[in-house]
Amino acid sequence: MPVSIELNPPLAIVHINNPPVNALSHEVRLGLLNACKKLNTDQAIKAVILICDGRTFIAGADIREFGQPPEEPHLPDVISSLEASTKPWIAAIHGTALGGGCEVTLGCHYRVAVPSAKLGLPEVNLGLIPGAGGTVRLPRLVGVQKAIEMVTSGKPVKASKAKEIGLIDALAPDHQLEQFAIEFATSMMNEPTPLAVSKRPITDIPNLAETADILAGIKAKARGQLSPLEAASSVLDACNLSVEDALKNERQRFVKLKESSQSKALRYAFFAERQTTKIDELKEVEPREINHCGVVGGGTMGAGIATAMLLSGLQVTLIEQDEDEAATAKNRVIKTLEASLSRGLITQARFESIKTDFKATSQFEKLKSVDLVIEAIFEDMAVKRDLFEKLSKTCSKDTIFATNTSYLNINELAESTVNPERVIGLHFFSPAHIMKLLEVIKTDTVSNEVLATGFALGKKLRKVPVLSGVCDGFIGNRILSSYRKQCDYMLEDGASPQEIDEAMRAFGMAMGPFEMQDMAGLDIGWANRKRLAPTRDLNERYVKIADRLCELGRFGQKTGFGWYEYPNGARKGIPDSTVEAIIVEERAIAGIIPKSFSPEEIQTRILDAMACEGHKILSEGIARSASDIDMVMILGYGFPRWRGGPMFMVQNK
Ligand code: 3HC
Repeated sequence: MPVSIELNPPLAIVHINNPPVNALSHEVRLGLLNACKKLNTDQAIKAVILICDGRTFIAGADIREFGQPPEEPHLPDVISSLEASTKPWIAAIHGTALGGGCEVTLGCHYRVAVPSAKLGLPEVNLGLIPGAGGTVRLPRLVGVQKAIEMVTSGKPVKASKAKEIGLIDALAPDHQLEQFAIEFATSMMNEPTPLAVSKRPITDIPNLAETADILAGIKAKARGQLSPLEAASSVLDACNLSVEDALKNERQRFVKLKESSQSKALRYAFFAERQTTKIDELKEVEPREINHCGVVGGGTMGAGIATAMLLSGLQVTLIEQDEDEAATAKNRVIKTLEASLSRGLITQARFESIKTDFKATSQFEKLKSVDLVIEAIFEDMAVKRDLFEKLSKTCSKDTIFATNTSYLNINELAESTVNPERVIGLHFFSPAHIMKLLEVIKTDTVSNEVLATGFALGKKLRKVPVLSGVCDGFIGNRILSSYRKQCDYMLEDGASPQEIDEAMRAFGMAMGPFEMQDMAGLDIGWANRKRLAPTRDLNERYVKIADRLCELGRFGQKTGFGWYEYPNGARKGIPDSTVEAIIVEERAIAGIIPKSFSPEEIQTRILDAMACEGHKILSEGIARSASDIDMVMILGYGFPRWRGGPMFMVQNK
C-alpha cells in the first residue's frame, strides 16, 4: 500500500511510499483521503504528520496518468479534505515538494522541512498551471508577487527561502525530520489550529494598472508559451474571486491546458529528456571513475568545458600552447567562475579552492595521469591527429581521449591513437558550462565501457547526454545545416533576412537564423562550406549570398557587419543596403523572380526541412530515436520546448 498510517496516540504518522518520487497516483490520492477520514474519527489522535519514504516528498501529480481518463478522488478534493480535517496536519518535507506535492503541503496546517528540501510549483514546465489550489492558496501565504514569480518561473525555492517568505513554518535539522516533526506536532497540539490557508486573506492585491503590467511582462517573456500567462492570471483572479470560485477557475484553466498541444509537447519532452540515457547495450556496463580531466585548448569552448568540469567538482588541467596563452585561458575560466559566484551558484570558499586547484599550463606531460582528456582546439583534422598521436605517447593507455569537434570524422581521428577503443566524441555547446546538451559520439571502435563513461560524465556535468553516430555535423549541426540551406533558398526566392528572423522568433526560437549567424560569426559556416566544397553534389542547389558577405569580411557582430549592420558595437542589428543589393544581384544571376513569403510558409518550410533531415539521420542509424533528435534541437539549438521538437511536430500535425 503506498499510504500507511502509524498510530502513536496522540499522534498519527501518515507515510507515503510510492517510488521513485512519491507521485500522487490514483492509489496515493485514495490512500490519503481514506487516511484523513479515518483519523478524523479517531478520538485518540490529536495531530497528524504527513511524511514520505524514499528520496523525496511528493514530487507532484503522476504525469503518466495525464493521458488517461481522470479517476476519483481528484486531487483538489483530497486537499480540501485535508484542509477541513478536524486534526491539524503537519507536512514534514524532504527532497522536493513539487506541483501537487507542494499543493498538498498548502492543504496542511503546518509545514516543516529539512534545509536541503525544495518547494515549488513547476507545472508551467509541463504546459500546465497548478491544478489543486496552488494559485489560490500560495498568494495567501507568500503574497501575490512571490506567488506569481513561483508559478510562472516554475523554479522551486530552497527551504531557507521558503521559511523567509512564509511558505514553511520551521526548519528541521538534517536527518532528523521525523523526530523534529513529532516534537513540533506535540508542541502545537494544544494550540488553537491555525486558520486553513484558503481562509486567510490576500493582503497585497495589485491594482488594475499593476495587473496589466504584470501580465504584459509575463507574455513578453513567455515567447508564445501559454501556461505562464494562465498561471499568473489564475493567481490574479484568486485575488478577486471567492475561494470556491477561484478554485473552480483554476481547475478549468488546468483542464483546458492539459488537453493543449503545448502541454502534450512539454510532457513528451519531460519523458524524452529522461530517455536519452536509457541505452540497452549500456545497461549492464559499469562506467569508469573520472576524477581528473585534461582539456587541450583554452579558447571559448575549452574554457567553457573546463569551467563545467570544475563546477562539478572535477580536477582539471588545461593545456595551452605557451604559458601566456595558458594564463589567458585560466583568466577566462576564473572570470566565468566569478560570474557563478556573483549569481550565488558557488560559495566564496568553493570559488577560492577551485581557483587554487585549477591548473593551466603549456607542459603537456602534466596530462600523464589524467583519466580523460578532451581536445577543444581548432577544427583541423591534421592538427587533431597529431595531437591524438602525442596524447597516445604521453598519457596512460587507459586514458580516455575525447574530442569536442563539431563536424570532423572521429573514426579517422581514432585511427591515430594506440587504443582506438578509448576515443569518443563529446560535443559541447557554447557556453559549455551552461548549455544542457552534450552529444556523445559513438565511433566504430569505441568500447561500451568508454561510451558508458561518456554518459556518466555528461550526467556528472548535469547535462543531458544524447547518443549520436559519426557523420558530418552529428545530429544537431547536420539538422542546423539543412535549416540554414532552407533559409538561404527562401532568401534567394524572395524573403528578406528580417522576414525569416521574425517568422522564426514568432515560432518561438530565441533568435532568428540570420541574427544567430551574426552572433556566432559567419566565418565558421564559411570555413565549413569551403571544407565540403570538393565533395558537394554539383546538382544540389547552392546559394552564394552568405559566401559573398564573407568575402567582404562581413563576419557578423564581431566585425560590425554581417547579415545586419551593428553601428558603434550595437547588439541589435539594423537592415543593411549592401546585403539587400547582394541578394538582389544573386536572384538576378539565378534568374529568380522574387515571390513573397508568409510567416507560416517560412515556418513550415524550415520545420519540414529539419524533420526531413531528422528522418534521414534516423534511417542511417545516426540517432537512436526521434525523441533523441528532438532533445538535441530543444536543448542545443533553441527549438521551443513547448513545441516538442521538429520530429514531434511533424508526427502530431
Ligand atoms: N509523475 C510520474 N513520474 C515522475 C514524476 C511525476 N510527477 N516525476 C518524476 N517521475 C519519474 C521520472 O520519469 C523518472 O522515471 P524513470 O526512472 O522511469 O525515467 C523517475 O521518476 C525519476 O525522475 P528523475 O530522473 O527526474 O529523478 P531526479 O531525482 O533527477 O529528479 C524530480 C526528481 C526533481 C522530482 C524530477 O523528477 C521532477 O522534476 N519531476 C517532475 C515534477 C513536476 O513537474 N511536478 C508537477 C507535476 S504536475 C502537477 O503536480 C499538477 C498538479 O498541480 C495538479
